[in-house]
Amino acid sequence: MSALVVLRCFLAILSIVSALESMLDLGELVAAAENLTDIDGQLLPTSHVFASGATLITNVADTDLNYRELADLDTALWSQGLRILAFPCNQFGAQEPGASNAEIKEFVRSYDVGFTLMSRIDVNGPLADPLWRLLKERLGGGDVTCNFQTKFLPSCSSNRCRVARFEGKSLSDLRPVIELALASSSDSRSGAIATSSTSSEEGRHQEL
Ligand SMILES: *[C@@H]1O[C@H](CO)[C@@H](O)[C@H](O)[C@H]1NC(C)=O
Repeated sequence: MSALVVLRCFLAILSIVSALESMLDLGELVAAAENLTDIDGQLLPTSHVFASGATLITNVADTDLNYRELADLDTALWSQGLRILAFPCNQFGAQEPGASNAEIKEFVRSYDVGFTLMSRIDVNGPLADPLWRLLKERLGGGDVTCNFQTKFLPSCSSNRCRVARFEGKSLSDLRPVIELALASSSDSRSGAIATSSTSSEEGRHQEL
């Protein structure tokens, strides 16, 4: 791992949580996410995922902290409509060193995670994933500097999504913000979507 990456990750840990916000159409989000696949290569039912309440999107590496914190948050807030999409990423000091999706999945299995682990992607540069490109472009805030540092939180009601971008490592700092997004989204959703998760997504949550 290069010294520069180590330094940037260290500074990132120190930075306090800050938010940028923008409104996007649900259709834009779904279009940008149309080819997203989970770690098993299955296409994600994105229109359903984004309509669930709030979706936490972040990039992760094979580190204990990342998976443990996400698994805890998922356990606490899944039933309130939180969906977590964790994207393994190898752009920061090769923290997912050459691992295949199968190897990543094997590593993560030990954490008993219920959240959705995605296929590995780039978050920066010419090969950056289209959803990440859209979110970075519309929210601002520049490139992602570290794994588990940037978190996007789309929260959709009917066809409009309020999207926030946070910089900061700690999920406990973010939790009140996420709970607020879930509460206001469920107010305007009449509860119908929150209680009827599709079998495939519910299945993934149970099985992983
Ligand atoms: C999804 O894949 C299709 C077929 O390769 C491609 O035409 C389309 O542009 C892709 N969508 C995005 C958002 O990248």
